[in-house]
Amino acid sequence: TRPLAIGIAGLGTVGAGVMTVLRDNADLISARAGRAIAVTAVSARDRTRDRGVSVAGLRWYDDPVALAADPGVDVIVECIGGSEGPARALVEAALAAGRPVVTANKALMATHGAALAALAEQRGVPLAFEAAVAGGIPAIKAIREGLAANRLSRVTGILNGTCNYILTSMREKGREFAEALAEAQRLGYAEADPAMDVDGTDAAHKLAILAALAFGRPVAFGDVHVEGIRGVSALDIRLADDLGYRIKLLGIARCGENGISTRVHPCMVPAAHPIAHVDGVFNAVVAEGDFVGRVVLEGRGAGAGPTGSAVVADLIDIARGRHTPVWGAAEAALQPVATVPMSAH
Ligand code: NDP
Ligand code: HSE
Repeated sequence: TRPLAIGIAGLGTVGAGVMTVLRDNADLISARAGRAIAVTAVSARDRTRDRGVSVAGLRWYDDPVALAADPGVDVIVECIGGSEGPARALVEAALAAGRPVVTANKALMATHGAALAALAEQRGVPLAFEAAVAGGIPAIKAIREGLAANRLSRVTGILNGTCNYILTSMREKGREFAEALAEAQRLGYAEADPAMDVDGTDAAHKLAILAALAFGRPVAFGDVHVEGIRGVSALDIRLADDLGYRIKLLGIARCGENGISTRVHPCMVPAAHPIAHVDGVFNAVVAEGDFVGRVVLEGRGAGAGPTGSAVVADLIDIARGRHTPVWGAAEAALQPVATVPMSAH
């Protein structure tokens, strides 16, 4: 069998991470995928930048959208970022052309996921986005497949590695907010615009995606209540500690008789709770289902290796012909429709 040919758009932290995972674990990946997975084409802005991976011999596109028309590419991997611009144009062009897409882009999926899913289903091609939520934690697979037998009532989580890294550094190392953020940026955890992290927007994108999958219907990103961590001071963290709590930025989605509510804000988490000690770049996802009870997943939520791991897992599924639709339209009829304000909970 010939290799599955991959075109990667965006060769920053995530794109280069994907290439590294594919290179370093090529033998076991091809065994698990049933065929080799080979990068054949790439796109980024700066041809001269050292990315820590070799792009020699690969077709290079300055315009990422042109990747969608490359007949030598079987699957498009979008690692550019942003809900509009070239990322959206590329994903739409690829799906319209019947090309499977793997994306790490939560802004895109939270904003246009329902329309993109409809396009993918109409064309009968996979649209996979495991890396878009909680980095290396297989949260999408767990919610959509592993817990498929349950009605989920609640999904909660630490969904932003940068914020958790900052809060942990302030607490454990006495770092200033700005210094801890600069470290997170240097380590490749932060978004291109780190305001997306610290103002809670990135966690809200991920929560909207998780809630849509958990509760079986699109959740409008604009309906998520969002508050970030800029207002959390070192004194707040110390006082919370003294009282037996940790301050964490949480995403909380609930589905009850009144409908669905979604919110992101700093929370006081009792030190005895399993996610109170999820520190640094680690994320956690907690799901509650009617038959399974509580399930807690923990792992690195950002960075090249964990995110590359999630993207490549999607590629292996595609190589194997495993294709899970984004959500089933039929189940929407079984769940409450309304999105309710925070005050109702
Ligand atoms: P980076 O900023 O590190 O990389 C972005 C890449 O996209 C760069 O290679 C850049 O090119 C390229 N790019 C940007 N604009 C254009 C354009 N107009 N045309 C062509 N190429 C362009 O971002 P990340 O790798 O951190 O993030 C990528 C995506 O993955 C985002 O959606 C992000 O939210 C998501 N993500 C990130 C995680 C992380 O830990 N960093 C984790 C999970 C998801 P050049 O290098 O030449 O400037
Ligand atoms: N900026 C994001 C974070 C990347 O810090 O969690 C992972 O989605």
